[in-house]
Amino acid sequence: MSILSLENVSYTYKNAPRAAVSEISYTFEEGNVYAIVGPSGSGKSTLLSLLAGLDLPTDGKITFDGDNLAELNLDRYRRESISMIFQAFHLFPLLTVMENVCFPMELCGVTPKDARPRAKALLEGVGITQEQMNRFPSKLSGGERQRVAIARSLASNAKIILGDEPTGNLDGANTQNIIDILCSLAHEKGYCVIIVTHDMEVAGAADVAFRMRDGKLRKEL
Ligand SMILES: Nc1ncnc2c1ncn2[C@@H]1O[C@H](COP(=O)(O)OP(=O)(O)O)[C@@H](O)[C@H]1O
Ligand SMILES: [Mg+2]
Repeated sequence: MSILSLENVSYTYKNAPRAAVSEISYTFEEGNVYAIVGPSGSGKSTLLSLLAGLDLPTDGKITFDGDNLAELNLDRYRRESISMIFQAFHLFPLLTVMENVCFPMELCGVTPKDARPRAKALLEGVGITQEQMNRFPSKLSGGERQRVAIARSLASNAKIILGDEPTGNLDGANTQNIIDILCSLAHEKGYCVIIVTHDMEVAGAADVAFRMRDGKLRKEL
């Protein structure tokens, strides 16, 4: 099932000499992991920010479930349809692991009584133990922190997971663990996972790998 569709999408920053994203057309589907590799400055983060609804294309259009993003409420699109995971995890240092996952749910109006069991299930799903749930993020390894960040990003019902170098701070074993989690989210639960990565191991595990160059997206064969 197609979920995000790009038609001739370009993005040019104000006063920039050329487009950061240039005439991209592609349809992303649920159930797949997509990886995007490419040199620094090739437009990867700009493309992710367009998919995330942080900005609108300066040319062309992006549709989500058939609706033009330009005509949607982008705050709501970001909140309800997009999960983002970052290299730097972005966990709250003064909240426990459990509280980190409950917090965004409570912001969306879920009561603490309902948030806790859901957070527990999400954390267990990424292999975080009961004891680790009560720790502060600083008392976890990098790989464990990234798993918490993934669990937190899944607290909404968003079907699209966007990652900017989500394994950038991790060693080989932890990278493999995160790849396995992202692949099972796509293949077993139907998420659409789109990640920017430098890691060829991550790109190799994706269902579809792209190379970005000068704002253009090309499928790797
Ligand atoms: N806020 C900005 N204003 C102007 N130009 C920008 C801005 N952000 C990025 N760029 C330019 O857009 C191009 C693509 O950048 P980016 O999407 O960050 O690439 P990547 O993530 O692949 O390193 C680069 O030439 C970069 O200098
Ligand atoms: Mg970047």
